[in-house]
Amino acid sequence: MRRDALPASPLKEKLIRQIAAEGPMTVAAYMAACLADPQHGYYTTAAEPFGAKGDFITAPEVSQMFGELIGAFVLSAWEAMGAPQTVRLVETGPGRGTLMADLLRMASLRPAFLRAASLHLVEISPRLKARQAEALANAPLTPNWHDSLREVPDGPVILIANEFFDALPIHQYMRTPEGWRERMVGLSEAGDLAFGTGPGRLPLAAIPQTARNALLGAILETSPLSAAIAQEAAARITAHGGTALFIDYGYLRSAPGDTLQALRRHAYQDVLAEPGLADLTAHVDFEVLAAAARRGGATVASPLTQGEFLLRMGLLERAGQLGAGKDAATQERIRGEVERLAAPGEMGELFKVLCVAQPGLVPAPFDSEALPPHAGANSGEA
Ligand SMILES: C[S@@+](CC[C@H](N)C(=O)[O-])C[C@H]1O[C@@H](n2cnc3c(N)ncnc32)[C@H](O)[C@@H]1O
Repeated sequence: MRRDALPASPLKEKLIRQIAAEGPMTVAAYMAACLADPQHGYYTTAAEPFGAKGDFITAPEVSQMFGELIGAFVLSAWEAMGAPQTVRLVETGPGRGTLMADLLRMASLRPAFLRAASLHLVEISPRLKARQAEALANAPLTPNWHDSLREVPDGPVILIANEFFDALPIHQYMRTPEGWRERMVGLSEAGDLAFGTGPGRLPLAAIPQTARNALLGAILETSPLSAAIAQEAAARITAHGGTALFIDYGYLRSAPGDTLQALRRHAYQDVLAEPGLADLTAHVDFEVLAAAARRGGATVASPLTQGEFLLRMGLLERAGQLGAGKDAATQERIRGEVERLAAPGEMGELFKVLCVAQPGLVPAPFDSEALPPHAGANSGEA
């Protein structure tokens, strides 16, 4: 093996050795290693992934209004569920704990909800668990941490997942003259990480209608783990009652496209350049999440864009309250936050909100049940 340049990251060194010994790895295995390698994974080591000083910024870090309005949703969903006397408030991938801290401040307006609720955080990063503990030190509920949703005790549930599914591993398939072949991460002649294709094939049933006439070289993505978690959440909700909000950037209809991206210090970079040092994400296929939730027995509401959801939950009114009587600079900052969260050119349109609920329930501000996916849609099970 000839190597022109030394690997830029310790994980790159490790993966190059592993691939040289064992052969190419799937994009999903590469993504899982980049994010969660126990020694060098991004979420294992990154000191400050989110916020102005980190690699990217998420909605709860943009403004307290985001978590507060989700808190208002949680209270109204709990009422719509019949105000059960026990409810598991669950957040998957809670990051720095900012969303939950803001949510609980709003939820404190209903002491009866706080008496009914227990708090469950599903998080794999030890560093972020510590940040969450700090953020929630004075919160009205004490967090219980879990490594997976399966560990959360049974019972009625309200689950929030913001920018969680985009961090779960995806498989990629490339259209070749021999059909859709799995994209792999192997080594170039120079011994650096490089994409190629392997023998793995995508079954016909998993190819969405929109990809049937795709050109050679087109990429299709699947995330069996995302579909499995959405189905598991829906099955719990169906069995015990509940509601889940999945908020992420992505697309409403399954379609071909290479959406795997690496972000470091607010700039995009080559996804193979610095494994473990950059955040790696993919756009979320909401059609697959909705289909998985239906398989779990739940009702799926017609999705809203983040902008629609926040405006319906009272974003402008909350901004008005926060800005009332404040100086011009503060009011300008709040205006900027509203813009960032809800404007179509910012996070307002790219981000979608999918609501999954117990059979027959469509909690406000959602207003109708989503139609089942058309025949031949990507099932996410490939
Ligand atoms: C992009 S961050 C989003 C953080 C937060 N929700 C926010 O909006 O600021 C993804 C979060 O999911 C966590 N995470 C990634 N994969 C996970 C998994 N398989 N199980 C649980 N948490 C995971 C990360 O550690 C991190 O907390």
